[in-house]
Amino acid sequence: MKGKKVLVGVTGGIAAYKTAELVRLLIKADLQVEVAMTEGATWFITPLTLETLSGNKVITRMFGHVETPMDHIRCGQDADLIIIAPATANIIGKMAHGIADDFLSTCMLAATAKTLICPAMNDRMFLNPAVQDNLALLQKRGFAIIAPGSGELACGTDGPGRLPDPTDILEQALIFLSERDLEGCKILVTAGPTTEYIDPVRYVTNRSSGKMGYALARAALRRGAEVVLISGPTHLKPPPGIHFCPVKTAEEMKVAVFDHLNGCHIIIKAAAVSDYRPKETADQKVKKGAESLSLDMVKNPDILALLGQTKKDHPCILVGFAAETEDLVENARKKINAKNLDMIVANDVSRKDAGFETDTNAVKIIYADGRIEASRLMEKIDVAHLILDRAKALKDESP
Ligand code: PMT
Repeated sequence: MKGKKVLVGVTGGIAAYKTAELVRLLIKADLQVEVAMTEGATWFITPLTLETLSGNKVITRMFGHVETPMDHIRCGQDADLIIIAPATANIIGKMAHGIADDFLSTCMLAATAKTLICPAMNDRMFLNPAVQDNLALLQKRGFAIIAPGSGELACGTDGPGRLPDPTDILEQALIFLSERDLEGCKILVTAGPTTEYIDPVRYVTNRSSGKMGYALARAALRRGAEVVLISGPTHLKPPPGIHFCPVKTAEEMKVAVFDHLNGCHIIIKAAAVSDYRPKETADQKVKKGAESLSLDMVKNPDILALLGQTKKDHPCILVGFAAETEDLVENARKKINAKNLDMIVANDVSRKDAGFETDTNAVKIIYADGRIEASRLMEKIDVAHLILDRAKALKDESP
């Protein structure tokens, strides 16, 4: 993303306060951000806030500001993407009908960049046929529109009109800005832990947060892939636009994986599946009694090994993960052979900055032919892109 430019247009609605978070996220994603505000927007959030977050002077008026006199032409052509957030009924109407009576609306008339409109307003205003017709017209002309969320609105009513979560706007922006080199590719990712029930209130699980698997799903989606994410219980929000399949147990994960296998080009198993489950799950909460309690455990199906055994029925690139606390490469190599994989991503989970729960990871990618590649410590999203690069290369090489 480095070097890509985004122009954020802010208009006068209460949701303008959320734009500060959006600008922060865009900067964090390594984008260059310029902000243009309407006069109305400056009543809700100060230009200084957005100037501080973006690191650039905020443009608020057409005439008399310090930058070049041609900013209204330059801004919309320099940008790789324009985001209007929040977009009021007023700016939507002006853009649909070619009205240019302030800096932002004039800039939009000359703009050539892809534009993402994020409407936010009172539900009656949003549902007004004039606004709906204007949005339909803009959509027909190639503008992208993120539907507002539904719920409690600042004006006290309940309905559609909430600005989508800034993380969802960011995600859509990154989809528009990314190279779509995985278009036409179906990728199945598993993520998170599995939970194996002892009784209705207790279960056996592990430390997986799902961050690595969700990063893989997000990276694949940004690059244009059709993504199926099968996830054990986590606190993460699945990225909009993926086919999300929540599961709890290893058995449920197995069923979901085999249900979604058809047409997959790449399967990546980042989930930490419980190797064992309690032999019996009690129907009622187990009562406290004896001084000690033994749990009889039985083996869970090894989903990855099953995929490896049946690979000729569903040819695809099969990528496993290995979470190890000792003899990382040796143990991972055993798994690549035993499970008939094309590639395995080995994590040293004894590290504090890698593996379970962390935002970063450092991995060793081991190939079926014995090659091995070590990554440096990176954000999980960057590790995800590296794994996808390597899996895609294997897919492109395969007959
Ligand atoms: O979720 P995070 O907090 O971000 O942490 C990421 C991670 C550490 C969970 C992830 O990077 C990782 O290493 N995932 C695999 C963990 C694991 O279960 O490793 P394993 O060595 O036990 O299993 C090897 C492979 O077989 C894995 O791809 C696993 O999904 C698969 N498996 C294991 C057991 C089983 N019954 N079925 C399986 O499919």
